[in-house]
Amino acid sequence: MSTILLEARGLTMRFGGVTALDALNLAVHKDEVLGLIGPNGSGKTTFFNVVTGLYAASAGSVDFEGREITRRAAQEIYRAGITRTFQRSRLCLPLTVFDNIAIGNYQHLQHGLLFNLFRRQALKRQYQENLEEACRLLATFNDKLVDRLFDPVSALTMIDRRRVEICRALISRPRLLLLDEPSAGMTHDETHELMSDILQVRQRLREAGNSVTIVIIEHEMNVIDRVTDRCVVLNYGEKIAEGTYAQIAADAEVQRAYLGSD
Ligand SMILES: Nc1ncnc2c1ncn2[C@@H]1O[C@H](COP(=O)(O)OP(=O)(O)OP(=O)(O)O)[C@@H](O)[C@H]1O
Ligand SMILES: [Mg+2]
Repeated sequence: MSTILLEARGLTMRFGGVTALDALNLAVHKDEVLGLIGPNGSGKTTFFNVVTGLYAASAGSVDFEGREITRRAAQEIYRAGITRTFQRSRLCLPLTVFDNIAIGNYQHLQHGLLFNLFRRQALKRQYQENLEEACRLLATFNDKLVDRLFDPVSALTMIDRRRVEICRALISRPRLLLLDEPSAGMTHDETHELMSDILQVRQRLREAGNSVTIVIIEHEMNVIDRVTDRCVVLNYGEKIAEGTYAQIAADAEVQRAYLGSD
């Protein structure tokens, strides 16, 4: 029996007259890769935004590891163990790969009196820890990326930038990772490569005792088929189907939502 890691109940998000999430019930099981799919504007990104505290839900609740996190501040949800990537890249291009990744570990930055008294040593230690962890994560994707640690992100290819964004989301060791269209803007081959990487990173984290559950928003159906254990399909903010890829692909309502006809 699988354990439920995150559970949304009756989750509703209204923007004026638009209901982006409409009484959504959605459970994410521990250790799965869940595909969140649906046509443009169906509420996928809004679900991430509400879960991570960027938007306050209009109604309903979200529980994570059995504790309610509805309408908590984004920082609290991050500290609870949920991180994400964004549909549009949020890297700081002039900064180095390392700086962009280390930003993801701000939960460990301290500002108390004692810390300031012993600041130099503590800062040095934090820096060293972040450096080691960033190298470990980059190497999990690709050994060659470690050599780029102090290059500006602007010098990297699209796919490497996306890898850096995922490392940033992983450096705080989340238990739930939300990926919003990680393959956006990439070629077919690059998408294939990135998905292999994501599966490999997940496997290695699991072997190291840091299992991460993943929810991935993705438009390419062959990608969804390959990487997900289970899928949830949204349309107009409602869940219209859920199951394995084969099950949802055969679902008449899903086909109608995508194709607009029978
Ligand atoms: N901040 C906002 N203000 C107003 N309306 C919004 C806001 N964010 C989302 N919406 C609306 O909510 C609905 C769902 O948008 P959302 O971005 O969640 O869709 P999506 O499924 O991620 O689509 P896509 O596949 O195009 O990324 C849309 O009608 C969108 O216009
Ligand atoms: Mg979106």
